[in-house]
Amino acid sequence: MSKQFDVLVIGGGPGGYIAAIRAAQLGFNVACCESNAYADPKGEPRLGGTCLNVGCIPSKALLHTSHLFEESGHSFAEQGICVGTPTIDVARMIGRKEGIVKQLTSGIKGLFKKNKVTLLNGHGAFVGRKESAESEVWQIRVGDVLVEARQIIVATGSKARHLPGVPVDNEIVCDNIGALDLNAVPKRLAVIGAGVIGLEMGSVWRRLGSEVTILEALPEFLSVTDIDVAKEAAKVFAKQGLKIITGIEIGDVKISQKGVSIDYTGRDGSEQKLDADRLIVSIGRIPNTDGLDADKVGLKLTERGQIEVDAQCRTNLPGVWAVGDVVAGPMLAHKAMEEGVMVAEIMAGQSGHCNHETIPWVIYTSPEIAWVGKTEQQLKAEGVAYKAGRIPFAANGRALGMGEPNGFVKMLACATTDRILGVHIIGANASELISEGVVAMEFGAAAEDLARICHAHPTLSEVVHEAALACDKRPLHF
Ligand code: FAD
Ligand code: NAI
Repeated sequence: MSKQFDVLVIGGGPGGYIAAIRAAQLGFNVACCESNAYADPKGEPRLGGTCLNVGCIPSKALLHTSHLFEESGHSFAEQGICVGTPTIDVARMIGRKEGIVKQLTSGIKGLFKKNKVTLLNGHGAFVGRKESAESEVWQIRVGDVLVEARQIIVATGSKARHLPGVPVDNEIVCDNIGALDLNAVPKRLAVIGAGVIGLEMGSVWRRLGSEVTILEALPEFLSVTDIDVAKEAAKVFAKQGLKIITGIEIGDVKISQKGVSIDYTGRDGSEQKLDADRLIVSIGRIPNTDGLDADKVGLKLTERGQIEVDAQCRTNLPGVWAVGDVVAGPMLAHKAMEEGVMVAEIMAGQSGHCNHETIPWVIYTSPEIAWVGKTEQQLKAEGVAYKAGRIPFAANGRALGMGEPNGFVKMLACATTDRILGVHIIGANASELISEGVVAMEFGAAAEDLARICHAHPTLSEVVHEAALACDKRPLHF
């Protein structure tokens, strides 16, 4: 006997659970199946995918704890707060993080109940399509159960890319999963890949006392960000003691119970060696279509293994959609959620949309880095005439009061229309401040529009305001 639904969502991460909730809100009879990737100790699947279990949320919990640890050891004394030398109880820190994960993942089960989404415990795989005069449905096997649904949303996410010949045991050699669960602060930590995970997890363990060395293949550091932001970040991270070596090529990696020994070729062609107690490999993520039996039904994948979709996340199969990390675009939780909402609304006959031009990026280092839209180097390459307004946080009273003088806001606007083309922030609370840039760009605002909006004083948002004024060369406080 098969179970029947209007919509079956495969995967319970941010793309999947949000698509399921929105589709249920719009009146569909919805089920979401989740395989046991992040099962709790009782074997029950945990919803929330990579993001809640081994990604966004646990990493931010550790970043917060390690930030407080560093502050208490360094900047508290400057403000007259004397607490002595802090020590870290790693088990308690990890336990707190686990508690947050548990609370949020079970919260999604609650949201499913509230919205009448049926949770199916099991791995989803395509069986085929059943077409008859009365109905056209997809058949999916979820564990031992055959499920039929008219619409399928594939939201199976991504998994860590590993280095060939370097097995990850999440003890000595870790991907994101082990990096979030080290049982002690390693004396020497090596990281391969100076991308988002490398910088965030490298920061966590450095703040807690590790000597961290990050090996990066590309010659330029943080080439995805605006060039000025990357330069500032390199300066600040070096001052913090995060050692980042760019332009390297990894050679032999020897692994023992005690640690790793990494041979690599330096930018100048010299042969180098890095010894460390633990290694984090963070060299990107790959789309996950494992065990989905996509080929059985002819679901088309790209050369990079992503499910091929159009701008509305339709696949090549009728009634089959795909969202999140398993399709092209930034591998970000909020992008996955936007696509999930879009698909549910389009299925319901509404005009859902997801604007890839205004998806913000945030790197939760200290200072934080956040941006939306085009970088200066992209505008130059595209031959777009632009103007830039750049204001340092050191000119802002609130930033000084908070002891956060590092960084700046840089706004890029079209030289002829004044329309905002990009906002780039390195500084305290950049993750929150970037929303103003996103809203402005989503509404097609000009720098002058932001310049004419009243910003509360004293706030960090005044630096965004001043950057808008600076686009017209008339900042008031700089
Ligand atoms: P996933 O979250 O990967 O979820 C896919 C789900 O599908 C999983 O639960 C999996 O078990 C399940 N599944 C897979 N195949 C099947 C199947 N056949 N049947 C049933 N279930 C299946 N993004 C941000 O925006 N901000 C951040 O701060 C951030 N921090 C991150 C930190 C780390 C360390 C990592 C690794 C990632 C981070 N990300 C962050 C990225 C973010 O986690 C992903 O972009 C997001 O989780 C993608 O959502 P998704 O729903 O597409 O896939
Ligand atoms: P990444 O793509 O951000 O960075 C990978 C880095 O590894 C790149 O700089 C790349 O040049 C380098 N690299 C690749 N192969 C290499 C090799 N063989 N040797 C040395 N360096 C090599 O990927 P990362 O950090 O693994 O994160 C994966 C994704 O997860 C991110 O792209 C992002 O989408 C998401 N994420 C988002 C976060 C956020 O929003 N704050 C936090 C963490 C992850």
